[in-house]
Amino acid sequence: MAMTETGGVDRAARPQCTLLQDFAGALPDPVLVVDRETRVIASNGPARELFSDIVAGEALAYAIRSPGVLDAVAMVLEGAPRQTAAWRERTPVERLFDVFISPLTVDGEPVAVLELRDITEARRVERMRVNFIANVSHELRTPLASLLGFIETLQGPARNDAAAREKFLDIMGEQGRRMARLVDDLLSLSRIELNEHVRPQTPVDLVAITRHIADTLEPVAREAGVAVSIRAPASAIVSGDADELTRLAENLVENAIKYGGSGPSPTVEISIAPSASGTEFAVRDNGPGIAPEHLTRLTERFYRVDTPLSRARGGTGLGLAIVKHIVARHRGRLEIESLVGKGATFRVTFPPVLDKSQ
Ligand SMILES: Nc1ncnc2c1ncn2[C@@H]1O[C@H](COP(=O)(O)OP(=O)(O)O)[C@@H](O)[C@H]1O
Ligand SMILES: [Mg+2]
Repeated sequence: MAMTETGGVDRAARPQCTLLQDFAGALPDPVLVVDRETRVIASNGPARELFSDIVAGEALAYAIRSPGVLDAVAMVLEGAPRQTAAWRERTPVERLFDVFISPLTVDGEPVAVLELRDITEARRVERMRVNFIANVSHELRTPLASLLGFIETLQGPARNDAAAREKFLDIMGEQGRRMARLVDDLLSLSRIELNEHVRPQTPVDLVAITRHIADTLEPVAREAGVAVSIRAPASAIVSGDADELTRLAENLVENAIKYGGSGPSPTVEISIAPSASGTEFAVRDNGPGIAPEHLTRLTERFYRVDTPLSRARGGTGLGLAIVKHIVARHRGRLEIESLVGKGATFRVTFPPVLDKSQ
């Protein structure tokens, strides 16, 4: 069949092919139509974008080298019903497609219509979901196993040992609290994610929240020998959700105390200041810092640089994931700067207050 150079069909020569070309053009996913010799006779914009080297009239095998797809096309051209095949594109980035190959008859000739559906994102989300469930189960199983172990010991060998009982009950209490923290963090994470599309609108004073959190964490800071300072104006109003902003400040300040407070004279500096793009909230410590390979992954759920240290300090690995979602809900920006040995700075920039009169 005659084709134009751009991949379109020579309209005057084959009116049926014009129809095929227009039909392919109306579909959102990449579509290719091949004739009995598996030469491409029609394609749409998304397909030409995907196969930048596709030439009208050329063999399909030049564009898709997958034997699975080519076999399925051959079967359809031989009269088989619709087939589905998987196709993996490796360059420039790996993408996965489901290819649906359907038979059609044009001018009494069999043709095959290939429709490609990009399932890369769906697969990624699916993998994340599976990993997430595996991680949650793993995080819950450890304290649960420890609780069950101690219950057995208390029912058996340590039944009449008052000293052991006291000690074991202490550990069991700690494991129970760890499970409770994990469940609380999971619940707040899902609540924040559920509302992420709605930007909170209440005027909230970030300075008041920060001072409150610094007071709450004062005993923790004292115990860790960390000097916490706040540099802020009398007030700084942002459009927000007071509970979520409290959690955000708590997570960042607590992290700075927990992970940044190991040097000779540990300090945590909190600053709040108006900036060109809104209000800036920053927490800086002078601790060990974070190596560059970890920086981009810190806000992933359950990602920790040092898992035993995080657990020992009561961490769940969800704090920064919660912070990230709170920042997203507030339409802000989170930046993490750190150099190994030079401490870390977590900076959140909130956009200007919503003006409801506009
Ligand atoms: N200020 C900091 N300095 C060094 N490491 C940090 C700092 N804040 C966070 N981290 C690292 O990031 C990890 C993830 O933090 P987070 O999500 O709050 O989880 P958690 O505190 O429960 O472990 C921590 O386990 C720690 O390894
Ligand atoms: Mg934390």
